[in-house]
Amino acid sequence: MTTNTRRNTCLVATTPGAPLGVNVVGYSYYLPDEVITNADLARTVDTSDEWILARTGIRSRHRAAKEQATSDLAIAAARPALERANITPAQLDTILIATATPDSPVPAVSCVVQAGLGAAGAAAMDVGAGCSGFLFALHTAACFVRAGAAHRVLVIGAETLTRVTDYGDRRSCILFGDGAGAAVVTSPEAGAECTIPRSSDGLELIYSALGTDGLMADLIKIPAGGSRNPASEATIRDRQHYLRLDGQAVFRQAVRRMAEAAGEALEATGLTPSDIDWILPHQANARIVVAVAEQTGIPPERAMLDMAETGNTSAASIPITLGRARESGQLAAGQLILMLAFGAGLTWACQIWRVRE
Ligand SMILES: CC(C)(COP(=O)(O)OP(=O)(O)OC[C@H]1O[C@@H](n2cnc3c(N)ncnc32)[C@H](O)[C@@H]1OP(=O)(O)O)[C@@H](O)C(=O)NCCC(=O)NCCS
Repeated sequence: MTTNTRRNTCLVATTPGAPLGVNVVGYSYYLPDEVITNADLARTVDTSDEWILARTGIRSRHRAAKEQATSDLAIAAARPALERANITPAQLDTILIATATPDSPVPAVSCVVQAGLGAAGAAAMDVGAGCSGFLFALHTAACFVRAGAAHRVLVIGAETLTRVTDYGDRRSCILFGDGAGAAVVTSPEAGAECTIPRSSDGLELIYSALGTDGLMADLIKIPAGGSRNPASEATIRDRQHYLRLDGQAVFRQAVRRMAEAAGEALEATGLTPSDIDWILPHQANARIVVAVAEQTGIPPERAMLDMAETGNTSAASIPITLGRARESGQLAAGQLILMLAFGAGLTWACQIWRVRE
């Protein structure tokens, strides 16, 4: 049983802190080979390694090769996640991909990934929620699983943000990188058709909530290329196919919305800041992450900071950080991870996961 007495969509057990019957059983990530350093950017725009590092915490970011599209990154992240979960593509019933940079507007990139993986039995669709997309897709997967409509869902966050980054704009080109992360979400019954290993990849969902404020949609956007402002010579000349953002306003909103979402999560679950072992926020800017931790009452040393070598990878940043945390041995059984996302829309999300024994 769950209750939702809030405005926004929310999953929380009636016994606060109890698991919701939604598990992650395998996760992984992929970063393309090419690296763009701050020094590389300083050769084309008026900036410096010192400024970028001090203002964002970013030293370098990855860029997809010319022949790689978002689906290629997504598939490269999904394959090891499926292997770790001991689930074959054919056993998937659903594929959800969070992205703001699909291969093309039509078809959904999830369909391209379904074909690439050979997941013939899965229904596939994209989820558009900017940098919050991965948690929106996980929430959707959780609702499918809890409704009994799905048992084995592949959730991916994948982006090729460098394709929509204006390398003439020093305020934004320093931020973004490419990458993908994937997680396999299952119901407790999923093991009837496949043997799911008990590993350090196991996470169980305790809480999930989403929020949106469309009145602030103008703060982060790609002005052209959709039905409002279709592609034309003029839109290309005016560089309207690149991502534009109001950095300072976004910064303030990101801190406020993520801190509020974390506070609501603690209140709803009856947990306290000292119960939380790790806070895993969207990796937009190190100063945002530290400010969110402080406002939530969680010591900043418990905040995962992983943007130094990856930059802001939008919908991919949370699963990339999660995968890298496992690799570096940060995670231990029984720990609670509070995930927080924020992005264009505006959108935000909060989830609490327990690392399984
Ligand atoms: C973009 C961001 C790093 C800018 O940092 P900031 O501290 O807010 O910097 P400001 O925009 O106030 O600019 C301060 C000064 O630095 C300059 N500046 C901006 N970018 C610069 C760069 N790359 N190198 C050197 N100087 C730069 C500005 O021109 C400004 O100079 P001025 O005072 O002479 O006008 C920061 O606002 C941010 O991270 N915002 C969140 C963005 C984000 O993550 N969006 C994705 C969605 S989640």
